[in-house]
Amino acid sequence: MSELYCGDAAQVLQSIPRRSVQMCVTSPPYYGLRDYEKDGQIGRESSPEAYIANLVKVFDEVYRVLMDDGTLWLNIGDAYAHRPYANVKRKDLIGIPWMLAFALRERGWYLRSDVIWRKTNAMPEGAKDRPSRCYEHIFLFAKSPRYYFDYHALEQPVAAETKARYQRNRSERSKYFASSYGQGLEKHLGQVTEEGRQVCRGKDVWDISTNAYRMGEHFAMFPEKLVEPCILAGSKEGDTVLDPFFGSGTTGAVAKRLGRSYIGIDLNPCYLEKAEMRIALVKSKPSQENAAEKLQKPQENAAEESPKRPREVG
Ligand SMILES: C[S@@+](CC[C@H](N)C(=O)[O-])C[C@H]1O[C@@H](n2cnc3c(N)ncnc32)[C@H](O)[C@@H]1O
Repeated sequence: MSELYCGDAAQVLQSIPRRSVQMCVTSPPYYGLRDYEKDGQIGRESSPEAYIANLVKVFDEVYRVLMDDGTLWLNIGDAYAHRPYANVKRKDLIGIPWMLAFALRERGWYLRSDVIWRKTNAMPEGAKDRPSRCYEHIFLFAKSPRYYFDYHALEQPVAAETKARYQRNRSERSKYFASSYGQGLEKHLGQVTEEGRQVCRGKDVWDISTNAYRMGEHFAMFPEKLVEPCILAGSKEGDTVLDPFFGSGTTGAVAKRLGRSYIGIDLNPCYLEKAEMRIALVKSKPSQENAAEKLQKPQENAAEESPKRPREVG
């Protein structure tokens, strides 16, 4: 069952039972970037420290509601200081993603990966005294050292040049003839799938283009292609996926398409209404269990599941 809540994420999360969601994938407001025009919004704090403290409050609650083997996939970008403060000078890159990552690690999260989302279609920035930014981070955090993670979901085809590189110039007399850095060559190059494709373990740089903004859309939507591998690796069909900064509902749309339930929270009721309309158009993958039930009781299961109306909390 999927649910949408309107309100402040840290507050709303307090009403959600402990250990009730499998994973969280989210993209909080960036520091000092946008004005979401709502009291209590995150991202407009007077200092990066205050911003980090507010995010920590939200992710403390996320930690509480996650299953013990659950994961958090957190998309975050950096910002430049527009004025000096503490030991940061005007023009300095602040280091927001790592400030947050270290703060969450101190709160008990296991920091497991720093995935780089390389924006393949990033527009050049105006600044002429530094390279243009074209990436953001997706941190993978786990609640426990052992957690649910389907690594097959992130498998990638082995590039022809990688294969050639490993097979090239290997003398039969070399102790590395059939191996690479102590690992079997085959293992290093990956498995052959049932369809005959050779795949290797997923890597931590993901090349994905950003969404083009269209009038009337949420202007900070993350791409479905970014959310999909996170949901596939972090949950099974029928599990619940949380996004406490739901915006246009990308997480809900992908979760529904992949046969997961979702819980979405946002401060802005207009975003939630639009998200609900967007998600209503998504065709849900019927789970194996539901499919079996449908065969037995066609009448009772005929209606499409729809999320609750957004309701005010707090
Ligand atoms: C970067 S956007 C999320 C976009 C979303 N990933 C998508 O694909 O559309 C951040 C969202 O956080 C919401 N927000 C800001 N402060 C909040 C708070 N304190 N509690 C809940 N939501 C908040 C904003 O309204 C905005 O929709």
